Amino acid sequence: MELIVTKDYDELSKEAANILKRDIKKYKKINLGLATGSTPIGCYKELIRLHEEEGLDFSDVVTFNLDEYIGLDSNNKNSYSYFMKENLFNHINIDLENTHIPNGKAKNLKEYCKKYDQKIEDAGGIDIQILGIGTNGHIGFNEPGDRLNINTFIVDLSENTIKDNARFFENPEDVPKKAITMGIGSILKAKKILLLANGKNKYDVIKKLLETETLDSEFPASFLKLHHDVVVIVDKDAYEK
Ligand code: GLP
Repeated sequence: MELIVTKDYDELSKEAANILKRDIKKYKKINLGLATGSTPIGCYKELIRLHEEEGLDFSDVVTFNLDEYIGLDSNNKNSYSYFMKENLFNHINIDLENTHIPNGKAKNLKEYCKKYDQKIEDAGGIDIQILGIGTNGHIGFNEPGDRLNINTFIVDLSENTIKDNARFFENPEDVPKKAITMGIGSILKAKKILLLANGKNKYDVIKKLLETETLDSEFPASFLKLHHDVVVIVDKDAYEK
């Protein structure tokens, strides 16, 4: 794992956006794996700035999002579909046809999960995957447990995650209890992974990730240690006490 420690969230966001910019410019066509949550918002803001001020071109960029809540309409402001439009897609020249977010309202969800992985494969796989990390070590929505899923699947969200994410909802009871998420295997297939974390509330989980020497299904992020090209970008608050 390569580690980059930045002085603050702003620098972290720019660092991540610059890595993406470099590859978007270098490869004509690129498949990006995208994450939601509060962490990548600064990086998306910087990508929008790069588009507006430097003409960074997204016309050949294809995106696949990690996860989505089950049961929320795409126009629900807590859906990840809405989030992506608000925080990135509506502000850059990406073709919405090239953006993929799991459909949490699909009729046959099991079948849909299989198709989602297939779509990623058919597109040639993910070139760079952006990841955040939950305070319990989840990536995407792969929650700690006895077993981890390899492929995209339907997950029961943990109490910890429901509590962490309640801040986005008007009423804590509105947080969906289930989500669709790329599995650990789907994530590890990406050619490169950028994991971002900022703030004091991520200190413990980042310390654990950097120090862990075992694979532990109770700590899903530990599986990132199997990947040969993971860049962890953290701000000072997430790195030192
Ligand atoms: C959410 C998302 C993850 C995200 C994580 C951290 O539940 N499913 O993809 O990385 O939790 O969120 P945040 O960046 O808001 O701390």
